[in-house]
This record gives sequence, C-alpha cells and structure tokens, in this order.
Amino acid sequence: MSRYDVPTFIKWVGGKSSLLAQYDSLGLFPQKVDRYIEPFIGGGSVFFFIKRSYNPKEIYLSDRNRELVICYEVIQKDPKSLIEQLKVHKANSSEDYYYRVRDIDINFTLMSKVEIAARFIYLNKTCFNGLYRVNSKGRNNSPFGNYKNPSIYDENVIKDASALLYGANLSIASYEAVRDVAESGDFIYFDPPYYKISSTSSFTDYTDVGFTADDQLRLSMLFKELNKRGCLCMLSNSYCDFILDLYGDFNVNIISVRRMINSDGKGRNEIREVAITNYERTCHQASLFEF
Ligand SMILES: C[S@@+](CC[C@H](N)C(=O)[O-])C[C@H]1O[C@@H](n2cnc3c(N)ncnc32)[C@H](O)[C@@H]1O
Repeated sequence: MSRYDVPTFIKWVGGKSSLLAQYDSLGLFPQKVDRYIEPFIGGGSVFFFIKRSYNPKEIYLSDRNRELVICYEVIQKDPKSLIEQLKVHKANSSEDYYYRVRDIDINFTLMSKVEIAARFIYLNKTCFNGLYRVNSKGRNNSPFGNYKNPSIYDENVIKDASALLYGANLSIASYEAVRDVAESGDFIYFDPPYYKISSTSSFTDYTDVGFTADDQLRLSMLFKELNKRGCLCMLSNSYCDFILDLYGDFNVNIISVRRMINSDGKGRNEIREVAITNYERTCHQASLFEF
C-alpha cells in the first residue's frame, strides 16, 4: 500500500486523494506538523495523509456540512455500530429503497448519530457520481446512481479511518472559526469550494448556502490574518485571475488535474488549479511572508 492510499470512506467532489502525491512531490506540505487544522474537511484525504505522515499532537477538523461532521464523529467513536447499520442498507439496497432513505426528513434530535451517518454514507455511495447535493432547504436531492455493484463500505477503511481520527477535535462550523484555535506555527490547510470559473465548470453546492465570491474574499482576508499570526497556511483553489489577485502576495503553485465531475458528468479533462502557500517549499518556518 502506498502512503497516498488514504482511508476515505465517502466519495467527495473536489476530494484531494489523487493530488496527494503531486502536492507531496512538489514539497508543498511543511516539514513538521505539531498542530493541524483543516476547516473544509470534506472527504478528509489531506487530513488522513498528514496524520499518517506527521502524527500531529493536536488536530482540529471542521466543515459546515452537519451530516458530514456527524459521520466523522461516529467513525471516530463508534465504528462497529456504523458498520452494523451499513450492513442493513447494503442488504436492502435498490432504487426504490434509495429514494425512501433519501427522502426521510432528518430529525437531528430523534435519529441517532449512527443512523444519520449510515444514511449519509449509503446515499453518498449509491447516488449519481457521488454528487452529494442539497437544495435551498438543505435537503439532499441527488438522483439514484444505478450502479451494478456499488461498494457501499469497506470495514477496513472504516476501521483505519477510526484509528486515524483518534483524539481529533471535530466540529460543525464555518471556516471563520479557525480564528479561535489557530496559533503561531500551526499548519492550516484550506480546501474551500472552488471559485466558479464558468457556470458549468465546477460544483460548489455542498451546503444549502453555497460559497460566493464574497466568501472567497473573506477567506483570503483570513488567510492574510493567519499569515500575520505566524501560521503555516496552504490553500487549494481554481486557477483564475480572481484567485491569483487575492493571493498574489504568496507562493502560487500550479497543479495539473484530471477532474472527474462536471455538471453533466462528462467533462473529464485536464485543468489547472493552484495550491497557495505562505511558506517556501524548502525552508518553511523561516520564510513566512511579512506584512
Ligand atoms: C472542496 S471540498 C473539500 C474537499 C476535501 N479536502 C477532500 O479531500 O475531500 C469543500 C468543503 O467545504 C465545505 N464548506 C462549504 N462552505 C463552507 C463554509 N462556509 N465553512 C466550512 N466548510 C464549508 C463543504 O461542505 C465541503 O466539504
């Protein structure tokens, strides 16, 4: 098994598992990570890699997607019950069952966290293209994927993910909350929904409120604030003038990517993205930008 094979238990649009080797070989991760913060955790591939490679002493993971963070909590604390519940979904799976499970009106007080997490993983693995999508009321509206044999879960992946999540602090929060925990020397990886270059180019509807150009601007201000605080910051985003203008004072690394999902599921071509860092590739600690 390669060190880049990370135990991602969901398919997540914009997931970074296929970019880990490229990021690593370009020397984009710092040399040492004692405290790690990731405020757009998504499918968690960067976290799993960092945890395995650097074993940080303190970890803070968050995302605005409530059901997603509940999945992490359940995988961390009760992987066995989750596997039992996933077995039930797997045994019953069909198109009709998918829509019945999808259309359950989630009641966060009445449903257990294990039920919420198992439902989320089941829908994620059986929906069209793994495209978790919510409408303006926050309800999942992804169509059925019609796969012959969807791999709904792998016990070993869930167990590995659980072990790596041991001790991590998890929270449902918007990215601004990193302000309250970030300290000088922390490594913070930001993987926000990407800035949309065209109306069909990328998918950003992970939550009911989306991520606007104003959000991108606020995020870049936070990046600059954390740079001043002495944090080591890395951020992935689209390669376009808007993003280059926001982060032009920092190191801009261009990354070539074969992206899988376009809005019609057909656009699978090579595109460019950026990975911005506020530290140099080799001499990280000594070279924070000064403002
Ligand atoms: C590009 S994905 C992250 C992908 C992740 N790095 C991976 O490898 O799977 C963006 C994530 O940002 C989350 N998100 C959207 N708006 C947010 C906000 N305001 N604050 C925190 N998370 C947000 C979405 O729920 C989604 O999980």
